[in-house]
Amino acid sequence: MRLSLRFIVPLLLTIAAFAYGAVPLVDNLTTRWFVRDLDLRASLIANTLHEPLDALIRSGDHRRMLEYFNRITQDERLYAMGFCPTPGDEPLATLALPPEINCSSLDSLVALSGTLISSAAGPLLVSARALAAPEMPEGRLILLQDMSFVERRSEETRKYLFYFFLGLGATVSLLTVVIAQLSWRGWVQGLRALLRGEGLFRPSGKPERAELRPIASDLRVLIHDIEAERRSRDDDQMAWTPDTLRAILHGDLRGQDAIVVSNREPYVHVRQNGAIVVQRPASGLVTAMEPIMRACSGTWIAHGSGSADREVVDRHDRVGVPGAGPAYQIRRIWLSPEQEAGYYYGFANEGLWPLCHIAHVRPTFRTSDWEQYVQVNRLFAQAVAQEAKASDPIVLVQDYHLALLPRMIHEALPAATIITFWHIPWPNPEAFGICPWRHELLDGLLGSTIIGFHTQFHCNNFVDTVDRLLEARADRETFTVTYRGELTAVKRYPISVDWPPAAGLLGRSVEECRRELRARHGLPPGHAIGVGVDRLDYTKGIEERFRAVERLLELQPQWVGKFSFVQVAAPTRSSIEQYQEYEVRVKAMAARINDRFAGKGSPPIILHVEHQEPHQVYAYYRAADLCFVSSLHDGMNLVAKEFVSARDDERGVLILSQFTGAARELPEALIVNPYDADQCAAALHLALSMPVAEQRARIRLMRGLIREFNVYRWAGRMLMDAAGMRRRGRLLERPGTPLRGP
Ligand code: F6P
Repeated sequence: MRLSLRFIVPLLLTIAAFAYGAVPLVDNLTTRWFVRDLDLRASLIANTLHEPLDALIRSGDHRRMLEYFNRITQDERLYAMGFCPTPGDEPLATLALPPEINCSSLDSLVALSGTLISSAAGPLLVSARALAAPEMPEGRLILLQDMSFVERRSEETRKYLFYFFLGLGATVSLLTVVIAQLSWRGWVQGLRALLRGEGLFRPSGKPERAELRPIASDLRVLIHDIEAERRSRDDDQMAWTPDTLRAILHGDLRGQDAIVVSNREPYVHVRQNGAIVVQRPASGLVTAMEPIMRACSGTWIAHGSGSADREVVDRHDRVGVPGAGPAYQIRRIWLSPEQEAGYYYGFANEGLWPLCHIAHVRPTFRTSDWEQYVQVNRLFAQAVAQEAKASDPIVLVQDYHLALLPRMIHEALPAATIITFWHIPWPNPEAFGICPWRHELLDGLLGSTIIGFHTQFHCNNFVDTVDRLLEARADRETFTVTYRGELTAVKRYPISVDWPPAAGLLGRSVEECRRELRARHGLPPGHAIGVGVDRLDYTKGIEERFRAVERLLELQPQWVGKFSFVQVAAPTRSSIEQYQEYEVRVKAMAARINDRFAGKGSPPIILHVEHQEPHQVYAYYRAADLCFVSSLHDGMNLVAKEFVSARDDERGVLILSQFTGAARELPEALIVNPYDADQCAAALHLALSMPVAEQRARIRLMRGLIREFNVYRWAGRMLMDAAGMRRRGRLLERPGTPLRGP
């Protein structure tokens, strides 16, 4: 519609200009030119005829004179002619002379030049010229020239003029349309898009207009940077959801895919009774990273440890998870039994794990384990290089199994942004210093752009360690380390859980969960229940927990037969001797305590040494009156946060070890020292007798914190910081930047 108007309007305007301007002007001009020409012709004729006519006039032979006139007027243009001897005479004229032309009117009619008259024969030009003789001093020659040809010519001119104007109109119209399309609309739209920010980010995938490209790219960078800065300032004002995280990846990090690398995979395919079943491993790391990957997609590189893992991958060792309509890919790394023994069981879990946890288990370091550790880290690095879709991917390296990986990735992909998160505590420099490969480990980690820990305390320990053991510059104001001329930021990112928990986890009501649990274990109605959920790991303080239950029953015997503690303990790292011994000790202790109180109602301890899926674990959380987390040392401990998030009824009490990262965030829990059995027993008693209103007040505060500091915020903060460092890197790379530094 707009297009046709743009064509028709200029065309109509041109035609109107033709009709009302050009036609009368041209008619007028051509008539004037012809009148002047014919009048001159009249003079020429009069001069030419002067002599013969003079003789005829003198002879007074009117007949011969008339014949002469008739002969001359055979010229097609000379319409009529006549002679007036005096103004009072009748003209001696050819027959065609119109009657209104007479000698008396001649002077008034024809002054100096010819006059145009219209007659029945058409337009005529009347000219009069003196043709005096001594006998007739007032004699006049009358010449009438046919002007109808002028009209014919004007018509023809008008026709050509019309075609010319039509052509002109069409050209102007077309030009208008083309210019409007190319220029006006384009610019207007381009500018509008710029203002809206759309053209900049090309959401529809349309290419940018070439002329807007330079301004758009500058504006794009500026807007991104301003928004990212604003977001990082206002992160506590933001609602942290999967969408927020997606927005950061697609906005601040310009659509980069995230590559997560960890030893443990989020889904394990195992063969059970001939069928392949999928299991979710008991792992804080998996609990945290899984919802992140669901939100952001990308690739998760991990060790394929399940008995049926090889059966479900494609030829690139990838499998889409979870199930149908997968959200992201797992890229599986295959390890030989020797590699797994040396890298995972040996160096990572007999060396680094006890080194970093104060749980009074001595670390064991073997050169052969270290060699496998180096080799396997290299395998992971190769996989990262293969999976990276760009030269500057964002790689999220997880945990102590992969301490050498950041440096290896940095060497293979120098432009990669590497965020390493250390999920376990970082010990003080003296403790860390006993590791024979301490320098190599620190060098590997400092290949990261950012290293994250759960608590500021662990950040401090790390910076102290670097300061003590390496030739590096540790800046305690900015919490950065400059090593080998490059900067690594050391930051605190307290890990958390999905909020709100996935729908399937809270499906059954608290009452239903409680009924089922009691029925399953033969517990009477009203029986109080405590719960503990852990990997069967010596750092978790399960023995201390059981000791606390025993002490409760000693100190507060009214709970004997009225309270049972259900411990779900997932078998873990079972080929390590310390873990085998631990399992034996835990089982024996449970049996001993149950024996001690046998015959006095339900057993005090119900121990399940088995893997349970998240929905089963949540049913325990919801059924319990209290949850007891008694870790001897723990980076964060997500069981504490899961318990709180599971209690949408705002009931239940959390007893939490002071040696967990979680204790710093959840002071409304009953904070205990797991080594102090009496204190823990008192906390159990307090929890079991806590009024509902107090339970509600405490758990509300804790739920508020977890809602606000959920796992999306944990990952989002890391990604925003990474984006900030990328921006700063871009800035420092610009020519003219004087210094490289924090
Ligand atoms: O605590 C460190 C950690 O990596 C956790 O993230 C996780 O809960 C646990 O260890 C997993 O251990 P593994 O992978 O050996 O079963």
